[in-house]
Amino acid sequence: MCGIVGYIGNQDSKEILLNGLEKLEYRGYDSAGIAVRSSNDVNVFKVKGRIATLREAVDNSVETTTGIGHTRWATHGEPSATNAHPHQSTSERFTLVHNGVIENYLELKKEYLGDIQFASETDTEIIVQLIEHFAKETGDTLEAFRKTVSKLHGSYALAVMDNENPDVLYVAKNKSPLLVGLGDEYNVVASDSMAMLQVTDQFVELMDEEIVIVKKDNVTIQQLDGTVMSREPFTAELDASDIEKGTYPHFMLKEIDEQPFVMRRIIQEYQDDQDNIKLDEDVRQAVADCDRIYIIAAGTSYHAGLIGKEFLEKIAQVPTEVHIASEFSYNMPLLSEKPLFVFISQSGETADLRSVLVEVNKLGHKALTITNVQGSTLSRESHYTLLLHAGPEIAVASTKAYTAQMAVLAILAVDTAQAKGLTLDFDPMKELGIVANAIEALCDQNEKLEQVAKDYLSTTRNCFFIGRGLDYHVGLEGALKLKEISYIQAEGFAGGELKHGTIALIEEGTPVIALATQEHVNSSIRSNVSEVVTRGANACIISLEGLEREGDEIILPSVHTLLAPLVSVVPMQLISYYAALHRDCDVDKPRNLAKSVTVE
Ligand code: F6R
Repeated sequence: MCGIVGYIGNQDSKEILLNGLEKLEYRGYDSAGIAVRSSNDVNVFKVKGRIATLREAVDNSVETTTGIGHTRWATHGEPSATNAHPHQSTSERFTLVHNGVIENYLELKKEYLGDIQFASETDTEIIVQLIEHFAKETGDTLEAFRKTVSKLHGSYALAVMDNENPDVLYVAKNKSPLLVGLGDEYNVVASDSMAMLQVTDQFVELMDEEIVIVKKDNVTIQQLDGTVMSREPFTAELDASDIEKGTYPHFMLKEIDEQPFVMRRIIQEYQDDQDNIKLDEDVRQAVADCDRIYIIAAGTSYHAGLIGKEFLEKIAQVPTEVHIASEFSYNMPLLSEKPLFVFISQSGETADLRSVLVEVNKLGHKALTITNVQGSTLSRESHYTLLLHAGPEIAVASTKAYTAQMAVLAILAVDTAQAKGLTLDFDPMKELGIVANAIEALCDQNEKLEQVAKDYLSTTRNCFFIGRGLDYHVGLEGALKLKEISYIQAEGFAGGELKHGTIALIEEGTPVIALATQEHVNSSIRSNVSEVVTRGANACIISLEGLEREGDEIILPSVHTLLAPLVSVVPMQLISYYAALHRDCDVDKPRNLAKSVTVE
């Protein structure tokens, strides 16, 4: 989490840094700061709160063409202006921003800086103090920077300014994402390309343990031993409109509405001219060669993994397990002889997944990453990648990436089934097209779903989601969506499990949202609904057109039963959105969260 930016050139750096930080706010938003260089001084502005608050704190009269900035999700030290970045060395010669976690900061402090009074409670401050320490020792900033970086254990994307070398930004990366952007007579650094799209679409990827000397007219990438690396820039294929809200009040609503378009783009990307599935032959071979798939993911992506398991087992007959990444690292199950690991991650940066991937690579197993972000860490470090093509997802609550993950997993399952010669009773691309139309129809009914949110959720303290089979997994996602943005205590339960304890929670008026999209469990989930209604629950049923039902329900347009999760989640996304809105919550930036979780 946290995002960093840096600019060195001829334009007003304050505005470029602040605009960049606004684009990075999804990475953390509990405090923020910038440091800008004026003719002979460095001015630091830091606040507890968001970039909008920082904007008000920045002195607009400062003339500056160089600076660094940071938006923070606190790990060490509470959110406060003191703990916000940039941090400065004791003499204020060096100023630094950092995304990541320095695991050995206490050891380093004890070994080198025992007598220095630190200003903050952060792990970050050690870096800037060490640079000053080594600069005194060596008399050379680059040498001091290199020496400092080589002593750090953990993750870092960092940018440093030196008062005595005003024409340089010193930059380094390990595990945390960082790009250098190239311009004409200026250069920039940023945690992702969205932040600097305002000034360039040419970016250079950095590898772990590289340092970069960034000047306004050139950029030099080096390994820690000083070996100079040459690397071609790539063009960021993002449109500025992809990262703007446009006429939408929130990114979340925009991203929910984009889902039909994402489905159609996935169809396009994964279909060849003969209407066959287009997949990298190596991916196909890796799935064919494995005897079991291990899906590793977190949060919403884990919920997509649960559906993916159903696809891979039911469509392709490949035994599949799904694991929460943060548990898997220290609780590895007995592995099969020829495992294939599938990492599902919207951001491609989640630290919990990466630590599993590092282990998997050490063990010599094959890894496939399914991600929305080309060139992300997980993608780079896996053998194979399948892209989601969902476009940037900015709202912290994941919506379109989740449906895209399920669509790509369905395509992978169908492709595997076809490669095995299994007979299928459906054409996946045609069915995904029907899913796109169904989502569109649901998004058009948002007034009805807003009413459901008002009726069931405007004052409640809790809410339960129930379902069986695929519907149970979607219920887990519905509950996560609702709790993360509206702060309502929401839980998903398997319908048949209620009577084993959970039903004790049902009181007069408790909202229960039941999913009934699967014919073979239609009557049993409806019995579970009766059980809770009898005990006072206020139940809302979401069912699939064509299934037997009674009374007033939210009816989803008919889609292939296996693909129903891609559609049934949409009313839950919209209900959660409106519940959060009516409870005055910050929909796009819920408290305590960040979009890209780069700490374990
Ligand atoms: C919830 C949400 C999170 C993420 C989780 C994993 O709406 O977005 O639960 O799904 O943090 O993130 P990725 O998919 O980037 O690995």
